Amino acid sequence: MSTSPASTATAEPDPLPVIELAMAFYGSRALMSALELGVFTALADGGADRSLLEEKLGLHPRTSQDFLDSLVALRLLTREDGRYANSALAERFLVRGRDGYVGGFAEMGSASLYPVWGKLTDTLRTGEPQIPAGSNFFEGLYQRPEAARKFMDAMDAFNADIAATLEELADWSACATLTDVGGARGDLAARLVSAHPQLSATCMDLPGVQPLFDERVGEAGLADRVAFHSADFVHDPLPASDAFIFGHILHGRDLDQRQDLIDRAYAALSPGGSLFIYDRMIDDNRNTKALSLLGSLGMALVSRIGSEYTPADCRRWLERAGFEVVAVRPLAATDTIVVARKPA
Ligand SMILES: C[S@@+](CC[C@H](N)C(=O)[O-])C[C@H]1O[C@@H](n2cnc3c(N)ncnc32)[C@H](O)[C@@H]1O
Repeated sequence: MSTSPASTATAEPDPLPVIELAMAFYGSRALMSALELGVFTALADGGADRSLLEEKLGLHPRTSQDFLDSLVALRLLTREDGRYANSALAERFLVRGRDGYVGGFAEMGSASLYPVWGKLTDTLRTGEPQIPAGSNFFEGLYQRPEAARKFMDAMDAFNADIAATLEELADWSACATLTDVGGARGDLAARLVSAHPQLSATCMDLPGVQPLFDERVGEAGLADRVAFHSADFVHDPLPASDAFIFGHILHGRDLDQRQDLIDRAYAALSPGGSLFIYDRMIDDNRNTKALSLLGSLGMALVSRIGSEYTPADCRRWLERAGFEVVAVRPLAATDTIVVARKPA
């Protein structure tokens, strides 16, 4: 008996996912350019046709149609009768100046990360970062005020969600003092303090951040309740506190420094106090959270010692210090938060 080829052939796998991955940077770069050009912010006041957008944004007619239609295909814009408008996604997350703006990530990517990702193969061969020898990512950043502002926008993008999760994970009514270590311009500390009248906070960060801190905390009218502590958290003592936040700082340090920071937080915490650690943690099996694994490579591109880590790693460091781990939860975007308590 003969069988037709159609009934025995196994379906050929579709190469499209491979092609899409190979070209994924096209879309990333288009998003970065759209933010640099101010497309979504310009459309926040209502739709516009192509010629008006060319004029408003300084777009060349040779590429404007392909560019704007690409953004439609990427579901960031809509087009009806030749009129472009923000999609619901862009309207919610990509209009600069609105609470919840996440464009800072793409802007930070454009300013700091996109150029170095082109040298990934060099880092894979040498283990060396792709920033000038002897330079420090943050010192370099704070000498470039515009880039520093974009970095802070990116850092603050998910703070509303993070503050809401922190509300669920702890009883803040019992907490009088909080230190956000590497707390950037104080946005998260300000959000927590404004929700809890008994709470005062310290934002511990590098001196280059202070002007941005003064601006943000001053705008919120909280300068008397959120203090800036200009210090180096690797070498300087942590202030005594009822709670500590380590948000996106452990991934920038080596293993000894991570353990040392956790040990020092334990010593500086009041009995019963809490330590909240969040980072773009990798899944414990190291095989599903692609963005976190790639993000760990991204750390190697800009730092000699940084890398992402798993919740299991974090639990081990915390328990070694004497903490009890009370919660491990997914957090905004790709982060994971680990909550630890010092016994009362
Ligand atoms: C990746 S950002 C995280 C900011 C914020 N915690 C968040 O999660 O959005 C790291 C922060 O740590 C600060 N930082 C880095 N090294 C530091 C050091 N040695 N001492 C104090 N702050 C430092 C940086 O200036 C920056 O604000």
